[in-house]
This record gives sequence, C-alpha cells and structure tokens, in this order.
Amino acid sequence: MHATESKINRLDWPLMKNNISRNDLDAVCEFLQQDDPILTQAHQVRAFEEEWSEWIGVRHSVFVNSGSSANLLTLAALRELNGGGEIIVPTLTWVSDIAAVLHHGFTPVFVDIDPRTLGMDLEMVLEKITPCTRAVFLTHVLGFNALRANFLEEMERRKILLLEDVCESHGATFQGRRLGSIGFASNFSFYYAHHLSTVEGGMVCTNDNDFYETVRMMRSHGMVREMDSGEKKRLYRDQHPDLNPDFIFAFPAYNVRNTEMNAVIGRSQLPRLDETIERRTQNFMLFLRNLDPDIYQTDFACEGSSNYAFVLILKHPNETLFQRIMETLRNHGVEFRRGTAGGGNQLRQPYLRKFIGANAWRNFPKVDHVHFFGLYLGNYPTLERDKILRLCELLNRLAGETRDGRLTAG
Ligand SMILES: Cc1ncc(COP(=O)(O)O)c(C=O)c1O
Repeated sequence: MHATESKINRLDWPLMKNNISRNDLDAVCEFLQQDDPILTQAHQVRAFEEEWSEWIGVRHSVFVNSGSSANLLTLAALRELNGGGEIIVPTLTWVSDIAAVLHHGFTPVFVDIDPRTLGMDLEMVLEKITPCTRAVFLTHVLGFNALRANFLEEMERRKILLLEDVCESHGATFQGRRLGSIGFASNFSFYYAHHLSTVEGGMVCTNDNDFYETVRMMRSHGMVREMDSGEKKRLYRDQHPDLNPDFIFAFPAYNVRNTEMNAVIGRSQLPRLDETIERRTQNFMLFLRNLDPDIYQTDFACEGSSNYAFVLILKHPNETLFQRIMETLRNHGVEFRRGTAGGGNQLRQPYLRKFIGANAWRNFPKVDHVHFFGLYLGNYPTLERDKILRLCELLNRLAGETRDGRLTAG
C-alpha cells in the first residue's frame, strides 16, 4: 500500500482516550493547594463512598485500591460471615473473580455463557445450585445486563445470595435499577479504561450492615476501629479489656485502602458519568447497526446496557476471516483484545487448569467460541462517528469476501 494512503486510512483507535480530563487533574491540584492536606484515606474517600452509594442506589460503599481488591474483600467477608462452600462463577470474567473464590477456600462451580449477554447462562446457574451453594458470583460483561426477572425470583425463592461484578458495566440497569444495587453485594473497578476512573480503584457496595462493617474492617487489617457502628466497637472493647481499643484485629485481613487524591478524581468525574455512559452506548449502537449481521453477531441483549467496549464476535467459526480481521485492525492502528473480557475461556488459563483439570474447558463450548472468534475494541466518549462507520466498512468488506468464498473457514 502507498505510504500516504496507509496514513489516511489509519484509524488510530486506542482502547481508551481522555478518560481522566483536565478538570479532574485540576481538582487534584486544587486539593493539594491546601495547607497540609490529609492524603491517606479520610474525608474525600468518605464523601466519594457516599456519593457513589447514592448514584448506584445502595446504602453502603467501601472504596478500595482496585476492582480485584473489591472481589477479594467480598469473598473474604462472605467467608467470614457465612462459612465455606461452593460459589457458582462464570467462565467469561476477569481472573480476580475466580482467584478471590479460590483464595478463600470456596469451590468454584463453572457455568457457560449466554451469547446474547455474555453473562452466565442463567438456566445453567439454577441447575448447578446445590445445598453447598453459598452464592452466585455473576459478572455483567462489557456493559451488558446479565439478569432476568425469573432468575432473580428463583434465587430469592431458594435463598441464594447474588454477588454482582459490575466492574465493566457502571450505570447499566435492570428494570430501571442500576446494576450493583440488586444483589447482596457488588463490585466495581475504576481502572483507567472503565466508565469512571480513579487511575486505580474499586468499590464494594451493599445494603447489608454486617457485611458492610466486615468489609470496612477487611480493608484495613481487620481493625475493629474501622467500623462505623459505635455499639459494635464497644462490644469488641468489652470482650477484650486486655487490648488497646485502637488496635483490636478481628480477623486476619488486608490493607487495600485507597487515597484522598484518587477519591478527588472519582468525585470530579461522577457528575458527568451519566453523560459519558450515554455517549458510549450511542457509539456501540451505531457500530451494531452498521455491522454485517450475516457474518458478525449483532443480536446482543442491549436493553439497559452501558457499553464498556465494542464487542466483535463471528457468528460462525472462521479462522481465516478472524486472522484477516486482526491483521486489518493492526494495520489501521485499532487496538483490540482477543477473547474479550479477561483472556477468554478462564478454564483454558494455567491458573485454573491446576485446580480443575487440563480438559475441563471442553465442557463450555459457547465461551470457547468467544475465546477464539471474539474480541473487543475500545469505546470512549470522544470516539468519532466517522471512525465507527469507517471501521464497519472495513469489517463489512471482509465479511463480503467471506460471502464470496474468498475467505473460507480455515
Ligand atoms: C469483570 C472484572 N472484574 C474485576 C476486575 C478487576 O479490576 P481491577 O483491574 O481494578 O483490579 C476487572 C478489570 O477490569 C473486570 O473486568
């Protein structure tokens, strides 16, 4: 290809752009202008937690240093309060969801995906519930809502706890309620490419007081003084008169606190979050409307979704076409991640093969299709409409070659 032509054709499309704005950075500078500001977890963190709780529609939130830490504390607190057992988990999620289950001695029970939401196949979840099930730890993948009314009714009827991982789906809704406010507890990530970013950061949300207080302690070494409840603190103090009340450690725990600066960035972004979500969602809808539906999957369950990244999945296996797509994206400067969320079928990853056997991945064909014939591309509020249309044109040209038989399934 001619050099000038290749330059004109490049789309230069990263996974994320301009997520932390000049305004957010100015808010940090202003905060630092104060005389002797407190930098470690203090008032800004508390204010961000309260504002986030209000936005999500929950009673309590606990700000931590990553989404993975939110996963870790959620499972740690669950284990502390309810004991061990089985946790039903997705095959398509981020490693830290499964790692947290393993770290706390739970047995993970895997479920294949529903291709329209990329979340768990909810019928299969219900089939896998046993008397040993402690919770279902579901992930809302890449902005799609993974819940359904009859599933929630059945969970309620069987008294099974629902944990929601909403790290990739801030602001997505189910029947008008924000995801993360529906389950017993929920987790969010504020890493760079997410809808709201505090550089690094995460949140645990819940309406349950005991769970909340346990997570607060878990975040800071298991320290009793971290609890909000004066009454609960007094109880510990009375039971342990030989201990300094400032240094009572209720259980072995972690230090996964975040800082005031990160909270300032989060608070600065929250007022524009609804608007950025709306733009991301419109971008994704434009992409789906313009993709060739014979070759690419376009029938996602988009109601209430809050797109994190564009999902591109072949309808049918075709290695030759998929290789051509990846090559075309690379040539046009479009960043992507093969396998979508977290490296595709988790059961193929070495960290899990050790626990559940080298061939367990074979039992989950739907996620395996996404593993080999799916990828995601960046989506961000300032992504230009024209770029989206040009990308669809490129992809549809490849689809056309497939239809003509020039790109046969290899
Ligand atoms: C579904 C899911 N859970 C957990 C995490 C972990 O979040 P973090 O990267 O903030 O540790 C991520 C990361 O993107 C994720 O996508």
